[in-house]
Amino acid sequence: MSDVQITVHPEARIDRIAPELHGHFSEHLGRCVYDGLYHDPSSTKTGVRSDVASLLSALDIPVLRWPGGCFADDYHWEDGIGPQEDRPGRRNLFWAQGREELPEEPNSFGTDEFLQLCEQIGTEPYLAVNVGSGDPQQATDWVEYCNYDGETELADRRRENGHPEPYGVKYWGIGNENWGCGGQMTPEQYAREYRKFATYVGSMDKLLLDHDLELIACGFEGHEWNRRFMEEIGTNAWGVEFPLDHLTLHHYYGRTITIEEADTDAYDTFLCEALEIESHIERIGAAINAVATTRDIGVIIDEWGAWHPEAVAESGLEQPGTVIDGVSAAAVLDIFNHHSDVMTMSNIAQTVNVLHCLVETEGENAWARPTYRVFDLYAPHKGNTAVETSIATPTRAVDDDELPLVGGSASVADEETYLTLTNLDHASAHAVDVTLTGEVTTNDVSGSLLFGDQSADTVVNASNEDDFEATTLDCMTVADHTLSVELPPLSVAGIAVR
Ligand code: AHR
Repeated sequence: MSDVQITVHPEARIDRIAPELHGHFSEHLGRCVYDGLYHDPSSTKTGVRSDVASLLSALDIPVLRWPGGCFADDYHWEDGIGPQEDRPGRRNLFWAQGREELPEEPNSFGTDEFLQLCEQIGTEPYLAVNVGSGDPQQATDWVEYCNYDGETELADRRRENGHPEPYGVKYWGIGNENWGCGGQMTPEQYAREYRKFATYVGSMDKLLLDHDLELIACGFEGHEWNRRFMEEIGTNAWGVEFPLDHLTLHHYYGRTITIEEADTDAYDTFLCEALEIESHIERIGAAINAVATTRDIGVIIDEWGAWHPEAVAESGLEQPGTVIDGVSAAAVLDIFNHHSDVMTMSNIAQTVNVLHCLVETEGENAWARPTYRVFDLYAPHKGNTAVETSIATPTRAVDDDELPLVGGSASVADEETYLTLTNLDHASAHAVDVTLTGEVTTNDVSGSLLFGDQSADTVVNASNEDDFEATTLDCMTVADHTLSVELPPLSVAGIAVR
């Protein structure tokens, strides 16, 4: 007997799921860049770790944000170009101190290394410019260095540094958390800074490039801030709007749950905190709509994920990679699908070794974390059209909240419907009936299951990584338009229906 009923409505289309919703974020912080993405250049041509690059290429990650984070608002991009031996070591006010043996930023990994890594793994770069301690000139110069094809000194420097063709960087973030580490600004102050930066970067785009940049403004989880920012942004003296393509915020969850000490109540609280991302998407979307009624501004969550108490500056923000984190990521990706009509990108923090990373390294080893398996299982949704689902599920009371014990999302493309399901219940398996309405046929159904026999706190390492691979979802029956699936506690399933 099923205790969960899900109805998929293939005709009730939400919107295309931008592949960028599966994006990533990497910062000069702890072992994310040095030892993570990059190591001693003498061992490979570029210094990029080939094991990490292969794992990322295999996942086909659509976009990678860099160099921060808080690091971005104290970063001067010109320190990181040209011959490596000539690059200055710098202190950066943020994060470098998290790693005892590297108290300073050596700048060996800079713009060209990052952009060539993106070319190597086939991902779109997203650069965050320095608003906090930088100026619009620096930002505009960076755009010119990366993207301009003419005969200027900056374009020539890029050529001398080994890249004759412009990189064509499309996404430019105007600062990072400028309500906090990026300058402690009020929304009005940041809006004025944004107008200045957008004027210069926007003119650069208009005059020298081909209107192909997308500018991203920083928002906040306190939504009054976003509304005030949007109001202040306004228009110029002639009523012309400033370039503004996306507004972003950050959502971290789990600061109260230490993996080793967590009990089952803590798992429920943790998952409720993860699901709060949905109200942030709705509220930032509402702040945009309240003011920008005539323009299309996308919602980005360009840092998100689990942040446990283990991740502190002294540990380089490292924390164990576990099943519960993987399950939380699946629930968040389902939410992104439900909001594909407003969401244009998201970036989980942070690609390698730091926070809710997908890949971990130790010496010469690199391996996939449980969350990597989740992104892989969810990959078929990318580029599909999300459709409405109705979900009737038992819930559990968690303080003032209710945890829905089963969730999911669905998308369609051509002849295929793809469905993902999460069992967020640590205590019980759930029997789920999924009804597919409309024209969908269930001739050919196949499914995969993650974490079916793993406990929530199982930690991945170099020798057990294969234990987290997806297995065939064999406890599924198909009758007419209904699939019946048994989901073990804290598990994730992906089902293709053709
Ligand atoms: O991802 C770690 C930090 O979290 C980033 O530098 C900052 O943007 C956020 O507060």
